[in-house]
Amino acid sequence: MSETRARYVPALGLRSLTRFYDPVVAATTRERTFKARLLDQLDPRPGQRILDLACGTGTLARAIAEREPAAEVVGVDGDAEMLERARVKAPGVRFDEAMAQQLPYQDASFDAVVTSLFLHHLTRGQKLEALIEVGRVLRPGGELHVADWGRPSDPLMAIAFTGIRLLDGFEPTRDNVRGELPAIIEAAGLSGAREHGRLRTLFGTLAFYSALRA
Ligand SMILES: C[S@@+](CC[C@H](N)C(=O)[O-])C[C@H]1O[C@@H](n2cnc3c(N)ncnc32)[C@H](O)[C@@H]1O
Repeated sequence: MSETRARYVPALGLRSLTRFYDPVVAATTRERTFKARLLDQLDPRPGQRILDLACGTGTLARAIAEREPAAEVVGVDGDAEMLERARVKAPGVRFDEAMAQQLPYQDASFDAVVTSLFLHHLTRGQKLEALIEVGRVLRPGGELHVADWGRPSDPLMAIAFTGIRLLDGFEPTRDNVRGELPAIIEAAGLSGAREHGRLRTLFGTLAFYSALRA
């Protein structure tokens, strides 16, 4: 078993909590609002091949397929149980089990990669590995769109984010709190990383980013 596999932590920390993932995320992250905003940012178009990286239970993948039925949507996640739920939720989407640091796709095979609530689970080194993989599977000119915990918009948001940090770990979330995701995205070889805005939630500030494979 690889080191990455050995340290794999299910989305809510414990395997037995996976079945509560959807209601917890809906109740705590303003999920409908932030995923609609990410979808607008992604702006899927007919004929595009789009990867939802660490797709979880497939809520965003399904929304992309509904918004643009003529796009091909693929979801990938490292957790077989999350994917079982995704396949029921979005039967028209293909879901693959794989780690983000070792994607089972050819070079330059996607027009866009989208990812939500994922990167804060990874250490800085793992973030870099996963983002290098994103750059590899994106075609030149392809886009990355991200929604994840970002630099708190104010002291109240910093306090609110403590719950997520206790759950998901202080080390992996540090880059997020410091607003360093754009710098890490660029360090992985993508270009023009920028923040599109932030959203206050019950558990902290969500930030929206994009970047390009040159
Ligand atoms: C908080 S959930 C987010 C799921 C979904 N993107 C969403 O917005 O609801 C984080 C997801 O990342 C997946 N994950 C964590 N580490 C991973 C890795 N290294 N490679 C692939 N998936 C991973 C987990 O299985 C989980 O489904």
